[in-house]
Amino acid sequence: MKFASHVEEIDISGIRKSFEGAGPGAINLGLGQPDFDTPDHIKRAAIEAIEEGFTGYTMNLGTAELRGALSEKLRRENGLDYAPGEIMVTSGASEALFLAVAAVVEEGDEVLMGDPGFVSYAALARVAQGRPVSVPMDERFHLTADAVAERITPRTRALIVNSPNNPTGSVQTKEELQALAELAEDHDFALISDEVYEHFVYEGEHASPALYSDDVITINAVSKTYAMTGWRLGYLAARGEALENMLKVHQYVQACASSISQRAALAAVSGPQECVRDMKEEFRRRRDVLVSGLRSMGMDIAKPQGAFYAFPKVGDGDDVAARLIRGGVVTVPGSAFGSVAKDHIRISYAASMADIKTALGRMREIL
Ligand SMILES: Cc1ncc(COP(=O)(O)O)c(C=O)c1O
Repeated sequence: MKFASHVEEIDISGIRKSFEGAGPGAINLGLGQPDFDTPDHIKRAAIEAIEEGFTGYTMNLGTAELRGALSEKLRRENGLDYAPGEIMVTSGASEALFLAVAAVVEEGDEVLMGDPGFVSYAALARVAQGRPVSVPMDERFHLTADAVAERITPRTRALIVNSPNNPTGSVQTKEELQALAELAEDHDFALISDEVYEHFVYEGEHASPALYSDDVITINAVSKTYAMTGWRLGYLAARGEALENMLKVHQYVQACASSISQRAALAAVSGPQECVRDMKEEFRRRRDVLVSGLRSMGMDIAKPQGAFYAFPKVGDGDDVAARLIRGGVVTVPGSAFGSVAKDHIRISYAASMADIKTALGRMREIL
């Protein structure tokens, strides 16, 4: 068998690599998923779907009920006006990101992305035979329109924006997002906005770039918000031709998202939201304990404003992450997220308070 060279060239995720070598008693602060269980009312909706026999294909775009609820959610929470027909339900935000890149990128096209940034973006650009172009974030890990503008070429087809940000926990301001959206519109490329951490903002405010331009593909999921990473349920909102072209790819690679997960997501999005507020407050408490623990060790770290990651500067990130793993604490070196932040490590606080405190004790001894 021969393999496509542009696929062979893709590295296995640096995050997965960083788990290798962890001993049995290691505390895992490397994971990007909530440690909470999916709330009961959401589980019950899925069980009812199975018991009712709601187990066949749905419309390619997703059920009308769920898209109606998502249209309402986008209006209520994000101030965005998308009809149910402008929304597509996908298998996680991951599939939505793939569809967006696949729909706009041709061989040799350039995809701009913040560095450091989420590991999937560069790989997705490569799968589409495009070229990932990293845009260094500023010293607060914000993506500025000036930095993006410097890297726009006639081959630029997309810019991926991720606020709140993985791995840094930064949250872009409305003004910054507006400037990025205007760049996309002026230069005729897509702004792909990955908003999966929107509900976990502790300082500042989440805003959607789609408020400022119709050239935005808004991507989100129930994965992080409702502790549903294993349900594989995401969605995107886009206008006219953009949606149509992504639907063509979705139709043939996925057909539709899981019918059962769609019912669960309907309960999540249209049901009580206290569970989200509770998780957010717990994340905030953990963040505060983690950050003050790291600072008391002399680490250089600004308080992350969102998501559930701390991203301290530690010197040689690869070396520190390797020493921590030998001492029983799994983190991810900054080098997994690009080339700009090799002197950082990512520490997830989607772990219990007890684990965070034990890990801090171990880190103090190791470092
Ligand atoms: C920024 C970002 N986008 C997308 C995803 C993937 O989300 P999903 O599980 O819905 O595919 C993740 C998961 O870690 C993420 O951190």
